[in-house]
Amino acid sequence: MSDRIEQVLNEALAAIAAADTPDVLNEARIRFLGKKGSIQALMSEMKNLSKEEKPAFGQKVNSLKTAVSEKLEQRMAELSAFAQKEKMAAEVLDITLPGTKIDAGTIHPLIMIQQELEDLFVGMGYKIAEGPEVEEDYYNFELANIPQDHPARDMQDTFYIDPNTLLRTHTTAMQMRELEKAKGQLPIKLICPGKVYRRDDDDATHSHQFMQCEGLVVGEHITLADLKGTLEYMANAMFGEGRKVRFRPSYFPFTEPSVEVDVSCPFCNGKGCNVCKGSGWIEILGAGMVHPHVLEMNGFDSDKCSGFAFGVGLERVAMLKYGIDDIRNFYMNDLRFLKMFERFD
Ligand code: PHE
Repeated sequence: MSDRIEQVLNEALAAIAAADTPDVLNEARIRFLGKKGSIQALMSEMKNLSKEEKPAFGQKVNSLKTAVSEKLEQRMAELSAFAQKEKMAAEVLDITLPGTKIDAGTIHPLIMIQQELEDLFVGMGYKIAEGPEVEEDYYNFELANIPQDHPARDMQDTFYIDPNTLLRTHTTAMQMRELEKAKGQLPIKLICPGKVYRRDDDDATHSHQFMQCEGLVVGEHITLADLKGTLEYMANAMFGEGRKVRFRPSYFPFTEPSVEVDVSCPFCNGKGCNVCKGSGWIEILGAGMVHPHVLEMNGFDSDKCSGFAFGVGLERVAMLKYGIDDIRNFYMNDLRFLKMFERFD
């Protein structure tokens, strides 16, 4: 009987040593330690032995079982350490290889101008307002003092979706929403940048889609001088130190008085060049004092408060700043054009 035990031990040790994967090792475990395995078979032979032989035999089979279990465990540990090592070797990274360059986009020049203006005005305590591009007639025209029969409503200028809904033609629509929302509460100090749409034929200086940034301040004792100081500050920040601004009388339905604003030419410093067509001045925006009727329609007492507003075209600013001569460049998505602004990011 002892020979049989010895034989099973040798077979088991050989099978364990030969197992080169966890699966094969598991098969060996079942073959020797399983319910129908060789060691169990030895156990069941006990019943054929005499009473005297039984204890010694039992002990031997138990030691066999312990020895085989220990060897199995040890081999399993070896195999998994080996598998781990192989996995690490397979997954090794060569960090000396050159990387793949990810072609990142650049910030669009118009967004750059928008961000520049936002930083500038947030620095002066303005908040940034937002509003829908698909707008109600009421906010785009009615509240801005542009009644039904006003020429600015001409079908040629506006993309209508239905008689009461349109693509906003100016960021003034956002101003009106903000004035209405404020319910007469002072002060108001905000800018509203965004896209606007007009039925224009596209050419070098016109685009049916463009961007504006509007500013609005309403409070007590706000005057044209505040507007001028603010715009002068903006012109210096956007076009370089030493810019002057000048006001020329103009007309907008929602401001009274209204002005057209020129900046002294940043290219010739006001002396006259081909960019400013010899005049020394470049027109950059429209502005004015908020019309008292607009304040009243929005629930403000125009005897107790006043305000100024201005609206600047971002394409115009970008074209001047970067020397771009065709507005359509901004909307062509030509990477050669867009990549030029990488260095300004
Ligand atoms: N809304 C005007 C435009 O689109 C610009 C403007 C804004 C003028 C605010 C005066 C005050 O041309």
